[in-house]
Amino acid sequence: MKKKIGILFGGKSGEHEVSIQSALNIFEALDRDKYVPFLIGVDKEGNFRFLSGSSHIVNRDDPKRIAISDEAPIVQPIKGENSTLCFFYNESGSFVEEVDFVFPIIHGNSGEDGCLQGFLKWLEVPFAGASILGSSIGMDKDVAKRLLKEAGVEVCKFFAFSKGECERGEYLKFVDKLGYPIFVKPASTGSSLGISKVKNQQELQRAVERALSFDKKVILEEAVIGRELECAVLGNDEVLASCLGEIIPKHEFYSYDAKYVDPDGAELIAPAELPAEIEEKMKEIAVKTFKVLECEGMARVDFFLTKDGKIFVNEINTLPGFTKISMYPRLWQISGISYNELLDKLIELGFQRYENEKKLKTTAEF
Ligand SMILES: Nc1ncnc2c1ncn2[C@@H]1O[C@H](COP(=O)(O)OP(=O)(O)O)[C@@H](O)[C@H]1O
Ligand SMILES: [Mg+2]
Repeated sequence: MKKKIGILFGGKSGEHEVSIQSALNIFEALDRDKYVPFLIGVDKEGNFRFLSGSSHIVNRDDPKRIAISDEAPIVQPIKGENSTLCFFYNESGSFVEEVDFVFPIIHGNSGEDGCLQGFLKWLEVPFAGASILGSSIGMDKDVAKRLLKEAGVEVCKFFAFSKGECERGEYLKFVDKLGYPIFVKPASTGSSLGISKVKNQQELQRAVERALSFDKKVILEEAVIGRELECAVLGNDEVLASCLGEIIPKHEFYSYDAKYVDPDGAELIAPAELPAEIEEKMKEIAVKTFKVLECEGMARVDFFLTKDGKIFVNEINTLPGFTKISMYPRLWQISGISYNELLDKLIELGFQRYENEKKLKTTAEF
């Protein structure tokens, strides 16, 4: 029996448009001999819309204006029988379709931070990628860095502050420990949203206010001078690391504009040119990071490499960009796993996790 795969994409994030591109690429690549794929888009208001194929995507050739058509009907997802997810038309309440597996590809808050994963777990449907814990740890740069530090994985110097601590100016005491320039970040955004690099106290105060408009926790980091490298990781218990890729931002840093606005904002090089022993070390650290941060399925681990060979983990992305030209699938392609094989593997890993969890006892033993 062919598995029905629901590709869940869009969402209320700065990466809504990228997510549509990823979803379309996944939809087109899924092997029709094994799967029946469906596109389920979450629009910017948070409605689930059931698309009849890619014709319900408008402005396909314009990466900035690409969108889910208003004509795609709004549907309600509910728990189906035998670990499926059912969709019903909102208006008439009649049945639309049911899927056996969900491939969530919604970036940013509520898609990547464990909310969506919790929703899918509650509905008891198998899905691809990290579960609740891995997703929420990966989304919080402060918690992730604390866990890595405790596990002996090198991260840059950092301090995190709540909104109240920021308002009382408590972060100012730590400036000397970091030294300018300082990176100021909301603890849990993606796409470089709300991130600033500051050179003095006046800029610092403004940047902290800006970061607080995105999150109730702010993280200050020393600025690492070095190359930016990325590694793709794949697996549940047995974890594989790909070759490394390099990002060369053409802006002050790999900002939102460098990522999404300026088409020449950054150069993506894969594979990165690296001495073999550094590459091996980074792969090892990528796998360790994945495990320490409780990830499953896939993640991209991002590094800094300094001139004197020091390796720092910058962050983990549990839902990396997944268009055919995105770094995550590109790194696997170079490492010998094609885009189609990667999808097969992620679906297999999602089912495997689901089956393993289903075997666990949920009631007391008498
Ligand atoms: N501590 C740091 N030192 C040097 N550059 C940094 C540092 N933190 C972030 N950057 C720059 O800012 C970019 C975005 O920061 P990052 O923590 O990766 O946030 P996001 O989750 O939004 O991608 C990085 O790709 C890098 O270019
Ligand atoms: Mg990043």
